[in-house]
Amino acid sequence: MTPASPAPATDALLTVRGLQRRIGARALFDIDTLPFPRATAVVLTGVNGAGKTTLLRMVAGLEPARGATVEWTGDDGRPQRAPLDPLPPALRRRIAYMHQHPYLFRTSVRENIAYGLRARGMHAGQIERRVDAALAWAGIEHVQDTEPQKLSGGEIQRVALARAKVLEPDLLLLDEPTSNLDGRAREQVIALVSELAAEGRTVVMICHDRDLINLPGVVRWKLGDGRLDTHHR
Ligand SMILES: Nc1ncnc2c1ncn2[C@@H]1O[C@H](COP(=O)(O)OP(=O)(O)O)[C@@H](O)[C@H]1O
Ligand SMILES: [Mg+2]
Repeated sequence: MTPASPAPATDALLTVRGLQRRIGARALFDIDTLPFPRATAVVLTGVNGAGKTTLLRMVAGLEPARGATVEWTGDDGRPQRAPLDPLPPALRRRIAYMHQHPYLFRTSVRENIAYGLRARGMHAGQIERRVDAALAWAGIEHVQDTEPQKLSGGEIQRVALARAKVLEPDLLLLDEPTSNLDGRAREQVIALVSELAAEGRTVVMICHDRDLINLPGVVRWKLGDGRLDTHHR
């Protein structure tokens, strides 16, 4: 008999294990196993200071994550396992993080969106096509040549979403995407976030926005008292 190959623990998009963060002597959180479901919108809630931003940034490879591991299925269909920190290159391409207050480079909106594709060495013609599609998707074609410091809060948020989507990530981590918006700007961002989820991406968003929490099919995670409840109702 041939030994069975190690089966993935779940059919999750990826699974993080041993995710913990201490602040001085206090454990902010200690999460044994955290599977990220495929093609799902997840809302992450918890009181201020619970560690929500820290958690997403660790998964995005933007904060130290000593001792944590990550498991995923490689392009060849085989199970992969590696330390979370530093984030494996194969995952860096598949995960996008959007800051609560997105930082845009002091160049045109178009260049801001193209930046990540250039960094990947994509051909100029293909970059133009992808950026055009992302601008149209986010409804920001009219500001494509504008400097970011002249944009409204809602436009900045939509540029940041377009900059993330253009990379075609499997997992988007969004930190309070609507918290600084109201009225039409907020509705536009909610519509874009729900489209990302409907496209089959996994979207994990920190948010308190009832309209996002109530999107169809949303899964709720709650961080509190050092634990993550992934079956929160
Ligand atoms: N670099 C840091 N050094 C020390 N404490 C930090 C640091 N970053 C965040 N914290 C603390 O960690 C806790 C969680 O922060 P954060 O992840 O921003 O929470 P949330 O997003 O849930 O409001 C807070 O008490 C915050 O003050
Ligand atoms: Mg936060």
